[in-house]
Amino acid sequence: MNPKILIIGACGQIGSELTYKLRALYGEEKVIASDISYSNIDIVNSGIFEIVDAQDYAAIKICVEKHRINTIYLMAAILSATGEKYPMKAWDLNMNSLFHVLNLAKAKFIKKVFWPSSIAVYGTTTPKENTPQYTVMEPSTVYGITKQVGERWCEYYHNKYGVDVRSLRYPGIISWKTLPGGGTTDYAIEIYHKAITEKKYECFLNENTELPMMFMDDAIKATVDIMSAKDEDVKIRSSYNLAGISFTPKEQAESIKHQISDFTITYKPDFRQDIADSWPKSIDDSCAREDWNWKHDFSLEQITKEMLTQLGEKYKKA
Ligand code: SER
Repeated sequence: MNPKILIIGACGQIGSELTYKLRALYGEEKVIASDISYSNIDIVNSGIFEIVDAQDYAAIKICVEKHRINTIYLMAAILSATGEKYPMKAWDLNMNSLFHVLNLAKAKFIKKVFWPSSIAVYGTTTPKENTPQYTVMEPSTVYGITKQVGERWCEYYHNKYGVDVRSLRYPGIISWKTLPGGGTTDYAIEIYHKAITEKKYECFLNENTELPMMFMDDAIKATVDIMSAKDEDVKIRSSYNLAGISFTPKEQAESIKHQISDFTITYKPDFRQDIADSWPKSIDDSCAREDWNWKHDFSLEQITKEMLTQLGEKYKKA
């Protein structure tokens, strides 16, 4: 199948980079970017862009028919920290958008779906080290609840209606092109911005909070890989554990100091500390590695080097 793609939530942190990557792979006219507003001008100007509200089934369907879409990447979501401020809003957006896309696939308007899940599906009762694919899942955030329930629905639509839906449990994703919004792992990006602009950072998590993380290039590679894997190789239709590296704010600060020796960090944990404490420290992603040959590339040192270089250039130009 030649993919004709709609990305919903294309202005966001992951959606924007996915748009660039998929256009490079399949051609600009094959990838339609969409979002609820023109919030990322680079994306709006980079190719075909449509305003689509992920909660509006009719609007998505019109866009699918207009552009003869066969594949949707649903990247719109309210993340963990914002979700705790607006629980019902997070529930509505995260669930309604998923049902709309799954139902479009069930009704055969589209053939393939990518929907991201998250390490937030896990909770305090989950084993924290090397968290297995199948284990206790009692998420404590609204975001985590929507992702866990969403996973169950993805698997249900696959088993009952033959929907080709594929999913990854993303860890914290580190990137420089577009800022993240409303996540608990956002500190791991802010720290690089502040390292360049102020040489100091006040972290909203404590120094020893270890979380699973990944560089954007790895996350995009995993997404492209699972979407182009053979149908029979995608054995898990809820969502795959996916791991890159794990580190604490202290370790990350150390890696920055290797390049900016006078960088300093202080710690002032806020409500996001509880969220982070409920998540795993590290993830066992052997199923992804076995089923469709997943392998990450970026170490913490490489991420730090890349982030400081790219952001350094960006701030110089600004
Ligand atoms: N990065 C997300 C968050 O912090 C986790 O999926 O909410």
